[in-house]
Amino acid sequence: MTAPRRVEQRLTVIDDQIRNKVLEVLEQTPYYAGPETAAFEREVAAYCETGCGVAANSGTSALLLALMALGVGSGDEVILPTHTFVSVLESVLAVGATPVLSDVEQDGNLSRDIVERHLSGRTRALIPVHMYGHPVEMDPVLELARERDLLVIEDAAHALGARYRGRRVGGLGHVGFFSFAGKSITVCGQAGMAVTGAAELAETMASLRVHGWRQRLGNVWHVAEHVGLNLRTSELLSAIGRLNLTRLDGWTAARTANATQLSALLAEREVPVEIPRARDGCEPGWLHYVIRAPQRDELKAFLAERGVETNIHYRLPLHRQPAFAEFSPGPQAFPVAEGLLREILTLPSHPWLSGDDLHYIADMVAAFYRS
Ligand SMILES: Cc1ncc(COP(=O)(O)O)c(C=O)c1O
Repeated sequence: MTAPRRVEQRLTVIDDQIRNKVLEVLEQTPYYAGPETAAFEREVAAYCETGCGVAANSGTSALLLALMALGVGSGDEVILPTHTFVSVLESVLAVGATPVLSDVEQDGNLSRDIVERHLSGRTRALIPVHMYGHPVEMDPVLELARERDLLVIEDAAHALGARYRGRRVGGLGHVGFFSFAGKSITVCGQAGMAVTGAAELAETMASLRVHGWRQRLGNVWHVAEHVGLNLRTSELLSAIGRLNLTRLDGWTAARTANATQLSALLAEREVPVEIPRARDGCEPGWLHYVIRAPQRDELKAFLAERGVETNIHYRLPLHRQPAFAEFSPGPQAFPVAEGLLREILTLPSHPWLSGDDLHYIADMVAAFYRS
């Protein structure tokens, strides 16, 4: 019997340009808070068509910096979707604010309608998450935030490069943040970045990132003006991030083409799965290609046996995480997220797949539903 084809999830490529850059940066100091990180911040901010970037050692830390700098804390409620990664809720708790979990639309994103159900006199901030690289319908959310004087922190961890009605996500609210740990770009380690058009806010985040010091590059005063933390990233990772940023547009084009082709192949085979779609006026980054599939767990096992690696983003919504039980009114409050939980499956769609890989994935999905 011939071995099945292997179609794995893949995060990035390591080539000589990356290797040479790593060796070059290793020979230099400083290893953190140096020119590579400063340039990475400028380049990501410019890419996002906004003013400032503040690099951190993870996306989680970038969100934490945003919440701290905006003064979100005790007595404040922050509305966030239950269908997301745990760190969104962790960061809200870390600043002493109260997380308010909401359900999501069928595409896994927040909407104005959903947010409105959770508003109270204590609501201070919203965290819309551009899930899988698909932009949230932001204009109505931003309008609501203006009406109610709420802060908007975009979780664009998945969505570097995505556009919402012509504008890059991340730069739409008061602050946005990205993760570079195996997302649209990877730095081969943990890093993230907050972006904002507000220079003063960026300066506060930059200071909080390094013990609340009033810091200037190459001119560090050890005077703690704020209660901060040490959330800096390394020069090595920033240098890798800079190189990969120059490759991002090509990767997004390839992810988009792969998503389009996979959707067409699945539709041709008339498989009973729901395929992901771009919302009108949006150009998603297509980080994750997520179908909704009946008998999801059986399909996942079937594909694994045939060499197709799949993921589930995410296995447990926040309202089902044991550590956060006190913030959940129970699964009945999240009917859409509960449906997603049973059906979502992330198929490979990364930029390094071949046409044959895509055909193989679609053929194996079809074979499962025929079997
Ligand atoms: C939606 C979302 N938000 C935030 C984060 C946190 O990013 P990081 O892992 O860089 O801390 C992640 C990480 O996977 C994520 O998926």
